[in-house]
Amino acid sequence: MKIMVVGGGGREHAIIKKLKENKNIEKIYALPGNGGIAADAECVNVGATDIAGIVDFAKNNDIDFAVVAPDDPLVLGAVDALNELGIKCFGPRKNAAIIEGSKVFSKNLMKKYGIPTAEYEVFSEMDKALEYLETAPIPTVIKADGLALGKGVIIAQTREDAKKAVKEMMEDKVFGESGSNIVIEEFLTGPEVSVLSFTDGKVVVPMVSSMDHKRAKDNDEGLNTGGMGTVAPNPYYTDAVAAECMEKIFIPTLNAMNAEGRTFKGCLYFGLMITPNGTKVIEYNCRFGDPETQVVLPLLDTDLYTIFEAVADERLSEIDVKFKDENACCVIMASDGYPSKYEKGYEITVDDDMNGELFVAGAVLKDGKLLTNGGRVLGVTCTAPTLKEAIAKSYGEVNKVHFGNAYYRKDIGAKALKAGE
Ligand code: AMP
Ligand code: GLY
Repeated sequence: MKIMVVGGGGREHAIIKKLKENKNIEKIYALPGNGGIAADAECVNVGATDIAGIVDFAKNNDIDFAVVAPDDPLVLGAVDALNELGIKCFGPRKNAAIIEGSKVFSKNLMKKYGIPTAEYEVFSEMDKALEYLETAPIPTVIKADGLALGKGVIIAQTREDAKKAVKEMMEDKVFGESGSNIVIEEFLTGPEVSVLSFTDGKVVVPMVSSMDHKRAKDNDEGLNTGGMGTVAPNPYYTDAVAAECMEKIFIPTLNAMNAEGRTFKGCLYFGLMITPNGTKVIEYNCRFGDPETQVVLPLLDTDLYTIFEAVADERLSEIDVKFKDENACCVIMASDGYPSKYEKGYEITVDDDMNGELFVAGAVLKDGKLLTNGGRVLGVTCTAPTLKEAIAKSYGEVNKVHFGNAYYRKDIGAKALKAGE
């Protein structure tokens, strides 16, 4: 069997390493992959948003199954195009990927179907948005409607900052057409939890919960990033919260998408906040989270390909999806300066006795050497019976990975440890 994985980050590396546990898979291609993924899959020079190139490659290489991991190709309809060729895929079709692709869509969906989320207003005219902000409660949250490389959310602490954000999105178009429509929503407080789930449109199977660390610096300071580390499970996600989410969020979302004729098949990511007034949806993603995947998949006990195929065939209920009763911690090693300016091109070396899982995100192979090539360079994940041990192990292994200009947060998991005490 030949599999193609679209994408080229740490998430895709984690997916590919897990898929390799299935002995029926003879060959895995990564489009485009990266220098680190090249150790585990054949990397093909086709960009993740080059839908025509992806389709051509699949057609010419007898691909049996495709995994489309990043948001952009999903929102652009990569799965629709591959399905048309008769290739089975893991990932939602375009009309379901809109749950991440448009915040206006997802907010309106939640309102229509009574799924708990922050109160909000939608604006397509800047003047109306600015007028609304004259009296809106502060802090407030401004969100660009479309995909914005994870940067389309501004938390404004003052009325002035809120107006500035609206002008930047709607007048200066800093996020392009993504900012033509905006959502202004209520500022919520409480611990955040990421819950990735498998769904085939019939049942929804939550994976082990996780906690992301989005800010660049320790103590949640600095700029927002794609994620600087994760732990799983998330201690705030108690059995009671899980039951509440299943009843009020997960199943209603699955039903809502079906009712809209937008059946979601793939990984549906619930970004949740446990507020004093109950757990609410902060965002949906139509894909595996990164770096959440780098802690969730190492804890998965069931064969990943078996799950992927069952999702595609709409028989997920037949699979007993199991997770190890352990904890995982992933520390992202980045290029110092990320998410702003950073240098790249430094050689990455790993000590022989390195004993954690290495998921490579931003690296290229050049003359046999692995060189840094991005902001987030790689993730180091370890698992252990307790969270404390998993954290200590991961930081121990981080010390065995070397490259110029390396930077990582020193407090991944610290908040989770405190919560668990
Ligand atoms: P997103 O890009 O949707 O993941 O949002 C980025 C981050 O902004 C989230 O992880 C939250 O920390 C924060 N955020 C988004 N919406 C809200 C909200 N309504 N209230 C408070 N924080 C929010
Ligand atoms: N780590 C957050 C995301 O993947 O969107």
